[in-house]
Amino acid sequence: MNAFAAEAAKKGLSGSGAATKPSKEKEPLDIRDHGDVSGYETIGVPFVDDAKMSARNVNVFYAEKQAIIDVSLDIGRNEVLAMIGPSGCGKSTFLRSLNRMNDIIPICKVKGQITLDGVDIYESDQDTVLLRARVGMVFQKPNPFPKSIYENVAYGPRIHGLAHSKAEMDEIVVNSLRRAGLFDEVKDQLDKPGTGLSGGQQQRLCIARAIAVSPEVILMDEPCSALDPIASARIEELIDELKENYTIAIVTHSMQQAARVSQRTAYFHLGKLIEVGDTKDIFTIPRHQLTENYITGRFG
Ligand SMILES: Nc1ncnc2c1ncn2[C@@H]1O[C@H](COP(=O)(O)OP(=O)(O)O)[C@@H](O)[C@H]1O
Ligand SMILES: [Mg+2]
Repeated sequence: MNAFAAEAAKKGLSGSGAATKPSKEKEPLDIRDHGDVSGYETIGVPFVDDAKMSARNVNVFYAEKQAIIDVSLDIGRNEVLAMIGPSGCGKSTFLRSLNRMNDIIPICKVKGQITLDGVDIYESDQDTVLLRARVGMVFQKPNPFPKSIYENVAYGPRIHGLAHSKAEMDEIVVNSLRRAGLFDEVKDQLDKPGTGLSGGQQQRLCIARAIAVSPEVILMDEPCSALDPIASARIEELIDELKENYTIAIVTHSMQQAARVSQRTAYFHLGKLIEVGDTKDIFTIPRHQLTENYITGRFG
C-alpha cells in the first residue's frame, strides 16, 4: 500500500463503499493538491496473459517536462481497454506513444519499451507508416480528408498497395464502410465530399478509413467528445462489434462510456498509471483514493 492509500485507510476512506455514494456533500478537490504522485505504485495488475501490445517502464517527456511516468501496461488481444483520468494526466500522450504518433512532435521523447506482438515498435528499422497502418488511430474531432467518401476510405489501401484492381478497391471501400456501420447511409453518395456528412457519420467515416488498411489495433482518443448522444451511442455499438476483430484502446472522459464499452480500465493521474483492473471493479470497488475521487466526480 502506498503512503496516500495507507493514510486514507486510517481515515476509513479507502476501498469500496464510499465510491458509489453521491459526492454532493463532499467538497470538490483541487487536483493540484494531489500533485505528488511520485511514490505511487500502480494498483492492480497491468499485465494480461494474451497481450497484443505491451508497454514497459514508459516515460514520455516534452523537452524537460515529463508527461508519462514509468507506465507499464498491456492491451489484451481483442479487448477494449479504456483509459480515463483528469485532463492533462497524459492519456493522449500515452495513446500516441503506442503508434509513434509522438515522433512527429519534435520536443517529445519516449523512453522505455513498447511492443506489438512482442516486437519493439521503437526499433530503429521500424517503418512508422506501416506501424500506423497496423496500429490505427481515430481522433477526437472527426477529420475526413477534403475528398470524396470513397477516396477517404481508398486513400490508405492505395498507399499501401492493397488493391490490384478497381474491383478490389471497391470491395475494400464497401467492406470498410459496412464494418463502420456507415455503408447504408452513404451508398448512393460515395462520390460526395466526406466533409459534407454529419459529425457522427464523419467519425464513422474516419473509423472506416482506419479499418480499410486492415489494422490490428485501433487507438481512439475521445472519439465521441464532439458528437451528440445518439451519434455517440452508434459509435459505442460499433466499438463493441469491432472488438471481435481488433484490439482497441480508447481514451474517454465519459465514465459511463468507459463502463459501457470496455473490459479493462486504466486510471491515469498526473502522468502515472494509478490503478488498472476489470472495468466493473474500477467503477464499483476502486482501490486507490485518487481513482475513487475521480469516479465520484470530486476532481472538477
Ligand atoms: N505537444 C505538446 N507539447 C508540450 N506539452 C504537451 C504537448 N502535448 C501534451 N503536453 C503536456 O503533456 C501533459 C499531458 O497531456 P495530454 O497527454 O494531452 O493529457 P490528456 O490527454 O490526459 O488530457 C500535459 O501537461 C500537457 O500540457
Ligand atoms: Mg487528451
